[in-house]
Amino acid sequence: MNNLSRSAQMLFLVALKCATSHALLSCNSRSAVGVSCALAVFTKQLPVCLSSNNGQRQKMAAQKTVLITGCSRGIGLALVEEFASKGWQVLATCRSPDRARELAALLKKQHQPAAIALDSADDGSITRALQAVQKLGVSRLDLLFHNAGVAGEDNLLKTTRAELDSTFTTNVSGPMVITQTFLPLLKAASQPKVVFMSTIMSSLEMNMGGGMACYRITKTALNMLVRQFAGDVPGLISMAMHPGWVQTDLGNSVGPAPLSPAASCSGMYAVIESASSAQNGKFIDYQGRQVHW
Ligand SMILES: NC(=O)c1ccc[n+]([C@@H]2O[C@H](COP(=O)([O-])OP(=O)(O)OC[C@H]3O[C@@H](n4cnc5c(N)ncnc54)[C@H](OP(=O)(O)O)[C@@H]3O)[C@@H](O)[C@H]2O)c1
Repeated sequence: MNNLSRSAQMLFLVALKCATSHALLSCNSRSAVGVSCALAVFTKQLPVCLSSNNGQRQKMAAQKTVLITGCSRGIGLALVEEFASKGWQVLATCRSPDRARELAALLKKQHQPAAIALDSADDGSITRALQAVQKLGVSRLDLLFHNAGVAGEDNLLKTTRAELDSTFTTNVSGPMVITQTFLPLLKAASQPKVVFMSTIMSSLEMNMGGGMACYRITKTALNMLVRQFAGDVPGLISMAMHPGWVQTDLGNSVGPAPLSPAASCSGMYAVIESASSAQNGKFIDYQGRQVHW
């Protein structure tokens, strides 16, 4: 039964209760008055109930929904704040919701659903995240934001096969499987978008310095994944994003980063909001500038 018919039934029951209590008080004409009074309340309230339910439904239909990975800290946490403050429904995911206290407090403050567990490196966790989203009654995703990422080994000569594979699993295979899994929900949106968090460090043309071996290699592979989705899934707007050099655990690990997470996210928000099919398969930074592959 939907909310509307439930509300209507509730009102009818209240009306009947009111009439019955009148009838119990005295078995005379007052009971008839009670019944007619209750029915009047019912018929008067029904249009109000109908219109408020319609309003609520229209609001829910108009509200956009985003799912973001890696929201426990850094840029992911700031993305949650940015999208929530712009009126979006935010499905914030992270590896361990129980330990993500700052995220939990932010979601509560912004009246958003509690964090959903999603580990980019674990297929079972991705399937369970989809089930959790469906349990919330979400049937449409306007935006999927792959933010979760790890740096891995810095030194190429010390990089083991296992280290590269593990970085690849989180940074590349994860976004691929997550996009495949959530594609039916994305397809239900009128203009679905998928943003893959890349980095300027992935650029083949701009890498003259070396270092950050696992990070660069896997993010370059991620860029090709973006191009594959852009070519293989019609109707989906897939973009690689560079957030700038941002003050986070990862950003500050290579030196003092200049950009606040809030400034980066506000820039990315504007770029994503205005993106159309012309941006499909493009590599763009938080200021809307195109980045060289
Ligand atoms: N900061 C920068 O300057 C910069 C520049 C270019 C690109 N980026 C990109 O921006 C994204 C966010 O980076 P950040 O600077 O915010 O880094 P960060 O502070 O290190 O945060 C990384 C986030 O990713 C999550 N994560 C790691 N592995 C995961 C997995 N297997 N499944 C799900 N979540 C996982 C972490 O969760 P836990 O708390 O559970 O570890 C954390 O929430 C990354 O993709 C990064 O490559 C950052």
